[in-house]
Amino acid sequence: MKIGILSTAQEVYSTQSLLRCGLARGHQIELIDYKQCSLVMEQGRAEMYYKDFPLSHLDAVIPRISTSFTLMGAAVLTQLRLMKVFSTLKPEGLLLVRDKLRCLQRLQEMEIDVPQTAYVGDGQPIGPLISMVGGLPVVIKLLESTHGLGVILSESYRNAESTIEAFQRLNERVIIQEFIREAKGADIRAFVVNGKVVASMKRQARDGEFRSNLHRGASAQQEPLTMQEDFVARTAAKAVGLDIAGVDILRSERGPLIMEVNASPGLEGIETYTQVDVAGKIFDFVEKKVLALRNGKVRKKVAV
Ligand SMILES: Nc1ncnc2c1ncn2[C@@H]1O[C@H](COP(=O)(O)OP(=O)(O)O)[C@@H](O)[C@H]1O
Ligand SMILES: [Mg+2]
Repeated sequence: MKIGILSTAQEVYSTQSLLRCGLARGHQIELIDYKQCSLVMEQGRAEMYYKDFPLSHLDAVIPRISTSFTLMGAAVLTQLRLMKVFSTLKPEGLLLVRDKLRCLQRLQEMEIDVPQTAYVGDGQPIGPLISMVGGLPVVIKLLESTHGLGVILSESYRNAESTIEAFQRLNERVIIQEFIREAKGADIRAFVVNGKVVASMKRQARDGEFRSNLHRGASAQQEPLTMQEDFVARTAAKAVGLDIAGVDILRSERGPLIMEVNASPGLEGIETYTQVDVAGKIFDFVEKKVLALRNGKVRKKVAV
């Protein structure tokens, strides 16, 4: 099959792991920096070019969209849909999860438990909102945070207020969230592919740190999920419209809470700590989809 991997960072582990896996399976793999793609809409036809090469011949793409280029990524994914090229990531799912507030709203809509959260309106008093999400300490988050940068634990009203004021002055949108103390600086990453959890790990923040991001120096190990966790991880991925998702869960006293859902979850941590060939699972999914689409087309022709 002809499969494109969309990535701006072609040398990173995730891209390389997918590349190696695809080549080993005999596919023709094209690494595409989606920032450099030109999108053309003509009457009745859509095309996309990467360095002069048209891309509509591809059977499928596996996008890895960086948080810095979400909008460009969404435009590229929409164009691929116009070109009828199968993508493991849909633009709606990408845009939804890249905004933490909308993502939490969607989870709430689907009755999936999330930490108690409040969006702080511009210039609004913070005290009542802190009480509504369970009191101090409180977690303050930038809506577009990643790798734990822009996630702060605040122990006092005064500190929370001045932090939020500072962010708002910079035109950053902020949410506050109940601090799940009993998670003890750990969270669970469930890697979902095509409606199944294919690998899961527990990440533990280093001493004196509550953020369990591997980029913040956390350690990790393979961790089996309870049946309930497995269910909520799959349900959350489906709720936000992602076929491939990294679902982050906090273990709380009232059961698993979904903290966030990632649209381009990294492969390095999960493959290293769980020893699961996650790239292989992704290709299993792509191969199955492309074959099903081909069969569908053949069947349609026969029916005509
Ligand atoms: N409400 C919370 N209670 C306890 N720990 C939290 C909470 N929210 C976030 N954390 C910790 O901070 C880390 C980063 O938060 P997250 O919302 O995932 O932001 P990012 O997208 O930047 O990774 C999480 O992995 C978790 O360990
Ligand atoms: Mg996170």
